[in-house]
Amino acid sequence: MGLIPDSVIEEILTRADIESVVGRYVLLNRKGGNMWGLCPFHSEKTPSFSINPSKGIYKCFGCGKGGNAINFVMEMEHLNYPESIRFLGGLYGVEIPETGYSGNSIQKEEKDRVKEILKEAAKFYYKALNDPEIGAPAREYASKRGLSKEVLDNFGLGYSPIARSALYDFLRQKGYRDEELLNSGIFAKSSKTNKPYDLFRGRLMFPIFDSFGTIIAFGGRALGDEKPKYINSPDSLVYNKQNHLYAMNFARKFQSKQLIVVEGYMDAIAMHSAGFKNTVAALGTSFTDSQLKLCSRYAEEVVFFFDADNAGQNAALRAIKMMMEYLKKLTGLNITIKIAKVPDGKDPDEYIKQNGADKFKEVVKNALYVEDYLIERAKRDSIDPETGNLDRGRYQSAIMEYGCWMNDEIKMSRMANAAAPILGATVQAVMNQMLKFQEATDKKQEQTESRALNRERQDDINSRNQVNDFEAENPYEPAEVAPSQPEFKKVNDSATKTEIDLFAYALSLGSALAKNSRIQKTDILRPDDFSGDTIKELVRIFLNIFDGNNETLFAKMSDYFRRLTINGRPAEDVMLSAVETADKCADVNVKSDMYLALLLKVRESIIAREEERLFISRGSASPSDRIKIDEMLTRLGDYKQSLRDRIGEL
Ligand code: UTP
Ligand code: MN
Repeated sequence: MGLIPDSVIEEILTRADIESVVGRYVLLNRKGGNMWGLCPFHSEKTPSFSINPSKGIYKCFGCGKGGNAINFVMEMEHLNYPESIRFLGGLYGVEIPETGYSGNSIQKEEKDRVKEILKEAAKFYYKALNDPEIGAPAREYASKRGLSKEVLDNFGLGYSPIARSALYDFLRQKGYRDEELLNSGIFAKSSKTNKPYDLFRGRLMFPIFDSFGTIIAFGGRALGDEKPKYINSPDSLVYNKQNHLYAMNFARKFQSKQLIVVEGYMDAIAMHSAGFKNTVAALGTSFTDSQLKLCSRYAEEVVFFFDADNAGQNAALRAIKMMMEYLKKLTGLNITIKIAKVPDGKDPDEYIKQNGADKFKEVVKNALYVEDYLIERAKRDSIDPETGNLDRGRYQSAIMEYGCWMNDEIKMSRMANAAAPILGATVQAVMNQMLKFQEATDKKQEQTESRALNRERQDDINSRNQVNDFEAENPYEPAEVAPSQPEFKKVNDSATKTEIDLFAYALSLGSALAKNSRIQKTDILRPDDFSGDTIKELVRIFLNIFDGNNETLFAKMSDYFRRLTINGRPAEDVMLSAVETADKCADVNVKSDMYLALLLKVRESIIAREEERLFISRGSASPSDRIKIDEMLTRLGDYKQSLRDRIGEL
């Protein structure tokens, strides 16, 4: 089925140690054998997020999320299983064979088809722009805006002809079906004729690339004053505007430690042309946390340009608040945020045209650290427009609000320092008030969040065990295929405490299970030693992947634990706490004895049940069957005695 081979997963889990993978996002402190930090998946003030380096897993005791390094990246980067493996492979230098499989393969085919359509469309628009007749008005507009032929070519700009279905007809001729064309997001469907028609007509076309240069969407600008000024293709199979930044494919290659984020396509292009090749643009929406993370992948500092008008400045505050909240969660994400301002309320494009690139360099250099911007902002927004005086009450609320956004006390104290003289108070008093305000605000938010988290957690537990055939289960297929499977039978997820402990000791022993001389071959646990479907299956999986590599054993099992429950609880929770108890036993001989005692206890009770069953059937059996049953009972009795003897020896 074109899956990623086990050996590759093994290598990923060995090389991408959980400590360094998580450490990219979370600041970790050692406490005992584990490391602790603030959970990146929910808001908290005291760390309840832990990683166990020797097991290669993470676990949050606040929100319940847990798993191995691959799972962590899935959650953090919103990737599916194979995508996450590729992501880690890139970071840790593990070659991932091209399997042609990235998620649900039917969907992959559809996605590839859409990407093809978008590429064809870009070629079509490009041709139209360069057509002597059709493209004339667009070329005229482009030159009016100072876009040279070279720039147009670099960014792959094009023109969408005015005809209602120029592109549609072209692509139909190439053999694309209506359904595929509609998937691409660049066609709309007429409610009257039910036929697709071109979404972009008579516009200058900006192809939108992902970070690696594949076209995933378009933006189109009107050539005149007609509204809307820009049309953007909607989210589709291949495009989620929240996850991308315009021109990142170019900026990324520049390998600057700094990224500049501007608001418009035209600004980004003007910046690139003026030599600021580290510029990207948000895509007609407010800046998102996943865009910030994308920036952090390539840069250490992000400089933002927001429009000078009211809407732009309000957007700035919203974006800053969101980013600071995000940085509070991802304490390991090292990124400096600066806010720049183009003089005279211009946008970067206009300013560069009028004043040149050198002047703009100054503008970038004058960008303010986010806390300094907020210090200024609080002041600016508190000036009474009538009197021109500072309204101290308004100033105090603003400074308190912005202060509590800060993700560290140094930034906060810079704000307190600046505000104290204006408020006529001591720095200490302002600082204390800020900290108090932050605590109260955070607590309120944690409460709201924890309600949502509990709901999410319950949904997760309810959605587990949805497998109709355990043996066909494969964690390397994304979970998204599971719900579409037909009926699934209810699995019996029960397990006794002894069974759980037995399995836990086996996991804790790892390779010692096969090496310790006290444990004979027949003493290796078997699925049949267990009664519930889930634990039986987990033991089967354990025996399959158990190959003497203790380091990745638990991490590999985590993939399965995460999708199952034991006694209605998340399997990873149940097993982790049992294994941690077993781990406490440092002496491997003592641990082996504990294991054997549990195994014998489990097997003894299986025999007892079997004996009971035989006794009952003996009553109604024919004389010849009775003899057979008696023989079996004798054998069981002997076996039971031998077990008892061994238990006695331990
Ligand atoms: P602006 O209105 O600031 O336009 O929108 P601009 O970038 O200066 O454009 P020009 O210079 O007049 O050509 C900034 C960004 O907001 C999105 C676009 O991404 C645009 O680049 N936008 C704007 C839309 O998506 N739709 C619109 O109607 C307007
Ligand atoms: Mn502009």
